[in-house]
Amino acid sequence: MKKLLIILMLIFIGIQLVPMNVPADLPVKEGDALEAPEELQAILKRSCFDCHSSHTTFPWYSNIAPVSWFTKHHVEEGREHLNFSTWNSYEDKKKLKYLEKIPKAIESEMPMASYLIMHAEAKLSDADKKTISDWAAEAAFDFE
Ligand code: HEC
Repeated sequence: MKKLLIILMLIFIGIQLVPMNVPADLPVKEGDALEAPEELQAILKRSCFDCHSSHTTFPWYSNIAPVSWFTKHHVEEGREHLNFSTWNSYEDKKKLKYLEKIPKAIESEMPMASYLIMHAEAKLSDADKKTISDWAAEAAFDFE
């Protein structure tokens, strides 16, 4: 039993040697970030920006493996899929695609359930969802 515990501890220490290597902040080009009403920005910042912007706030435990592995995966993939800090660099077609996807995403899987466990404040209220969907519908209208 004691041996097993020591082995587990050594494994835990060992996995800490794999660094996360995800920068909290990426360089942002002037004018690239989404411009949206204050109310919407605040919601996105609170609920989406940790994974979908170039400015991530990493809590202390996110540096500890294996949490760091999930965090790395979520932030890298989230940014790759949709980054509100580079929104204005997207072509119209891409913006339109996201404006259609965002309202669906917030009704199902976004923000991710595993994220909400430690970020209760990121949970979207019905009013938040309406603000996001109304904005998406209105913004999409500009492209039709
Ligand atoms: C904990 C990280 C995390 C948070 C917080 C988060 N997302 Fe995501 N999001 C992801 C990841 C990872 C993906 C890509 C994989 C997937 O679809 O599950 C994704 C995918 C998406 C997609 C689909 C993009 C595509 O290319 O199809 C949309 C839309 C989206 N998120 C919107 C949001 C919105 C809006 C919020 C805030 C209300 C949010 N997400 C919060 C991590 C996150």
